[in-house]
Amino acid sequence: MSKRRFLIIGSDGLIGFALLNYLKKANESVISTTRKKLIKDHTRIYLNLKDEVRERKFLKSVGEVDTVVFCSGITQADKCEKDKFASRMVNVESVCKLAGILANNCRHIVFLSSNAVFDGSKEYPSHEDTVSPVNEYGRQKSEVEQELLKLYPSRVTILRLTKVLGARNPLFDDWSHMLKKGASIYPFSDMYIAPIPVSFVVSVIRLLVDRSVSGILHLSGDQDFSYADIAFMAASWLGAKKVQVKPILASESHLHRSLLRQSKTALDISRLQCELGIIPPKSLWTLQQAFVCPSILNGV
Ligand SMILES: NC(=O)c1ccc[n+]([C@@H]2O[C@H](COP(=O)([O-])OP(=O)(O)OC[C@H]3O[C@@H](n4cnc5c(N)ncnc54)[C@H](OP(=O)(O)O)[C@@H]3O)[C@@H](O)[C@H]2O)c1
Repeated sequence: MSKRRFLIIGSDGLIGFALLNYLKKANESVISTTRKKLIKDHTRIYLNLKDEVRERKFLKSVGEVDTVVFCSGITQADKCEKDKFASRMVNVESVCKLAGILANNCRHIVFLSSNAVFDGSKEYPSHEDTVSPVNEYGRQKSEVEQELLKLYPSRVTILRLTKVLGARNPLFDDWSHMLKKGASIYPFSDMYIAPIPVSFVVSVIRLLVDRSVSGILHLSGDQDFSYADIAFMAASWLGAKKVQVKPILASESHLHRSLLRQSKTALDISRLQCELGIIPPKSLWTLQQAFVCPSILNGV
């Protein structure tokens, strides 16, 4: 049997980059797409999902592939809200088109989705619950999920993720900097995350492919924390003063209302536990590492 070959769509982002490195280290055969035009590496293929995908040219450049992982996307919910048309092209239309182009030869399609397919009103929604997106980003994710599951039911894995943290996190890096120099920070007290490390996400993707698990799965931290909770904990981990943390309300900020999800972002992960027999690190552990030893979130 020939060696399997992965294709990562969008390998310069947080998860795509971590997955590319993880698979390479594991000695897997992998090619990937990038928006950087000047790369001279035959395993890196130029692809901009804003453009019409040209089937023949694309198939010729990727060659034989048996597993495709979609890590691409306009991932900032506010950008999707502001430019629904352009974000829909990148997040929905091009993804469905590419999946169609690759489907004939591909054994497995993995699509990374999000807890944004839910409105955040229910605790630990399960993979069987009806979706209820309240913003454009969530609607786009949910639309691709439905389309892929309808067309390739036994070959598609939809992995819904909560907030993923890697070694670099601009917001937390900024907070650390401010707290260490004695300055104030202004976290939202009404926005929540249940984070998971990127190193864990990529190992789950590989396991799902190894075991040919299809359908919808959830990967989530165990507990929600508000950004204000996180900021207070960060102050204590970094030896800063509590008074430096000055919580504010996202609902009173300039944020679009549809971006203010309710307080429940954590997902029910029972199917993942059952299929893979693994438990993600606790949200609290992940958060602490983000401030005291961020590189561990990348698995180093
Ligand atoms: N990170 C999270 O907390 C999280 C949570 C839930 C779900 N997800 C989902 O997981 C996937 C990966 O997330 P991520 O955090 O790694 O995202 P990210 O860091 O924002 O990376 C997105 C990737 O998509 C590429 N991309 C954006 N526009 C493109 C276009 N027009 N054509 C081709 N490629 C394009 C980016 O390329 P450039 O580098 O060139 O911009 C980048 O490689 C996304 O689908 C996201 O919705 C992520």
